[in-house]
Amino acid sequence: MGSSMSCCGTEKVEEVPTSFGAVNNSWRIFSYKELHAATNGFSEDNKLGEGGFGSVYWGRTSDGFQIAVKKLKAINSKAEMEFAVEVEVLGRVRHKNLLGLRGYCAGDDQRLIVYDYMPNLSLLSHLHGQFSLEVQLDWKRRIKIAIGSAQGIFYLHHEATPHIIHRDIKASNVLLNSDFEPLVADFGFAKLIPDGVSHMTTRVKGTLGYLAPEYAMWGKVSESCDVFSFGILLLELVTGRKPIEKLPGGVKRTITQWAEPFITKGKFRDMVDPKLRGNFDENQVIQTINVAALCVQSEAEKRPNMKQVVNLLKGYEADREVTRTRIHSIVYNDELLTQDEPSDDEGGGTNSYGVLNAIQVQKMHDPYKPSDIK
Ligand SMILES: Nc1ncnc2c1ncn2[C@@H]1O[C@H](COP(=O)(O)OP(=O)(O)O)[C@@H](O)[C@H]1O
Ligand SMILES: [Mg+2]
Repeated sequence: MGSSMSCCGTEKVEEVPTSFGAVNNSWRIFSYKELHAATNGFSEDNKLGEGGFGSVYWGRTSDGFQIAVKKLKAINSKAEMEFAVEVEVLGRVRHKNLLGLRGYCAGDDQRLIVYDYMPNLSLLSHLHGQFSLEVQLDWKRRIKIAIGSAQGIFYLHHEATPHIIHRDIKASNVLLNSDFEPLVADFGFAKLIPDGVSHMTTRVKGTLGYLAPEYAMWGKVSESCDVFSFGILLLELVTGRKPIEKLPGGVKRTITQWAEPFITKGKFRDMVDPKLRGNFDENQVIQTINVAALCVQSEAEKRPNMKQVVNLLKGYEADREVTRTRIHSIVYNDELLTQDEPSDDEGGGTNSYGVLNAIQVQKMHDPYKPSDIK
């Protein structure tokens, strides 16, 4: 999977990938002692954030390299599986827009994954978190983040063998390096897709607000689930709004419900994040929103694939009729929304939407399955 000769102690570790696909992919095994020392004993001060499966800590190796260490909370079969999937998938991916593996530690009762530290943290922290007031994300950076993350997902879907579905595309899983180049992270939920398989049915994992309807309701997973989540991410990036907002009175509204009337009336300017103070390229805004609208269509087969998404975002397919796309908003059923209470697991208090880990939604009728029709 990698070379145990190269490690965090070499000059190469902090090297920023320079060209498409040219990434330093070397990793090694770390000792628990080494990671304990690097993170000041996993101290609270070093904590970068918390997810469903554990906490992430900033650290510095003895030779001065900055790392991010994900420490699994508990070792149970679910966590073991996530750890194994993440290490397995990370070892296979090589792309400048995917956060690769720097190493891991698997002791008797510890599971830790080591990554390069991303100094600009996650897209979430810029849109809705600790950096949101600084408005470092100007329009140019947002476009770069949109195209870069699309390229990372394109690689997973079309270039990696076997193909990989990420299943948890969201703002906190898009990390930003010192140049604000995006790196898609977190492969713990990823699915490797055997050749010739178009979709699979699985337990639902991921984050409500980003979940494609056919996946949230019937566990139907295919590349187009990631396309849907990416569409939500695009809307979030342009508008600065959260995927699910809690309105006064407790009613929850999805970003597609909010966006639909604006898109229908062609009021694209009014959708743009007010933090940009009108500084954006209007044609790019229209193109990006239209791509998002294509991605979040409720019928999976109508969504573009990631190759088309990348090309549309880069403007190569500018002639394609995208302006007339109508969003038919996704309205999650009440049962799902009740489970979507903000969770302490997400840390920082910056999220207003929770994580649905491995919920199973079986009660609803699946229109894809003729045998279900009674
Ligand atoms: N390599 C990294 N560099 C910097 N920050 C990171 C890195 N990996 C994760 N983080 C931060 O840690 C937080 C928690 O990560 P994670 O456990 O993946 O949970 P989630 O993605 O659900 O927030 C992320 O939101 C991100 O801000
Ligand atoms: Mg994450």
